[in-house]
Amino acid sequence: MEQELTRIGVSLPENLLNKFDDIILQRGYSSRSEGIRDAIRNYIVHYEWMSDVHGERVGVITIVFSHVQKGLETNLTEIQHEFSDIIHSSMHIHLDHDNCLEVAVLRGEGQEVRKAAERMMSLKGVKHVKLTTTSLGKEL
Ligand code: NI
Repeated sequence: MEQELTRIGVSLPENLLNKFDDIILQRGYSSRSEGIRDAIRNYIVHYEWMSDVHGERVGVITIVFSHVQKGLETNLTEIQHEFSDIIHSSMHIHLDHDNCLEVAVLRGEGQEVRKAAERMMSLKGVKHVKLTTTSLGKEL
């Protein structure tokens, strides 16, 4: 059954929209709306996957963020201190004039690992966060 569509208005930085438009053109989407629907579906699937991470896990969080965003580095450090019982190591790389990369390696309960990643994701000035997890392999 065809679902009823709702129109929404979204404000986006121009460069983000241009990049998105380039990709949907390359991938052959029929419209920008179809590309946005697909992106939202992927976001939901990813979130549901993150919510489903349970048991003792090793996780790697990769964060690309703006070095010039006021207060961001302090907030990121605060979160890492909060989760210091599960964060085993972190590495900071100055990517270019404006951007930094941080990689944190965690080991702990899956939902705690997820929480740490989500806290970092929600900070303003964070451009990209990727969480990967693996089990410790004991059960394999
Ligand atoms: Ni840096």
